[in-house]
Amino acid sequence: MNYEIPNNSNNPITVRPRRLRKGQILRDCLTDVSLSINNIIYPLFVGHLDAPIPVKTMPGVSQLPVDHAVNLIKELASQGLKQFILFGITPKNKKDHHGTYACSTDAPVNQVLAKVKALGLNVIMHADLCLCEYTDHGHCGPLIPNDTKLVVDNDKTLNQLAQTTLALANAGADIVAPSGMMDGMVETIRSTLDQNNHSDIPIFSYAIKYASNFYGPFRDAGEGGMSFGDRKGYQMDYRRKHEWKTELQEDIKQGADMIMIKPAMAYLDIIQSVRQICDLPIGAYHVSGEYSMLCAAASQDLLDLKEAALESMFAIKRAGADLIITYFAPDLIKWL
Ligand code: PBG
Repeated sequence: MNYEIPNNSNNPITVRPRRLRKGQILRDCLTDVSLSINNIIYPLFVGHLDAPIPVKTMPGVSQLPVDHAVNLIKELASQGLKQFILFGITPKNKKDHHGTYACSTDAPVNQVLAKVKALGLNVIMHADLCLCEYTDHGHCGPLIPNDTKLVVDNDKTLNQLAQTTLALANAGADIVAPSGMMDGMVETIRSTLDQNNHSDIPIFSYAIKYASNFYGPFRDAGEGGMSFGDRKGYQMDYRRKHEWKTELQEDIKQGADMIMIKPAMAYLDIIQSVRQICDLPIGAYHVSGEYSMLCAAASQDLLDLKEAALESMFAIKRAGADLIITYFAPDLIKWL
């Protein structure tokens, strides 16, 4: 492409991209990035609660009692939303070192899955598979001493994830989405599913998940904050540009069916790079901090929430994501 720059004022300007921006109809017709409600996944926080409890750091988001969540899923499904992902809130007295409550049929996530399945709703239920909402220390797996520190024991965590996988699959999960960033997790989960008559359940692996500051509000919503330390020993370092390739190759080799990248807005370069070499469906998680930042800015009239949220969603699609997990899902039913 070589445009000649007119060098005398008699030259007419021949390239006028503005011609194609004339009028809303023409602009709508020329859109080449699409965003449909089919691409949207809504995260829900479920617990054994008497009533919904608003999450202070996430306007419009509440922790939901099991039956309330089931009814909401039914209602949103009737309005066209098709995909949901569940996170469990665990009572303090049910948390332990290994996060065993995640396996219980009594756990809120497993109850919602079973109830939605029993209703035969036309939806896809993703189950986030991680232990941090179930362990008493808040890390994503059981701990082991290493020098003077405690670190997550990778292989013991895999055992616990295998058992949790089975509980989720038996309860009725359509897709399992491991988010703990343990090495070998996809292989363990795949073989567990295959050996237990669940070979048709896909794995939506959070293959590329950064140790991000933007998860802050989620840790209020899911009550999965850590009692000490951080997750930098297992989640990825945002100062590294190429590490995602290793994570991606490993997860695909181990049997991932779909790939998640998380967070989204500060990682559009990563989404685009993954898209260039990966033919599997790609999801991006527009995480709690990204959501709450927009809400906070809008509440101070710094921007228009709907327009800024749509721009964010389109940016994520344009980078190459097929699916977006977002707390804006109910709004997007109206906006799209
Ligand atoms: C659990 C998990 C987290 C999120 C999703 N799954 C928190 C974390 O890893 O610390 C964050 C999602 C969000 O911020 O919206 N491992």
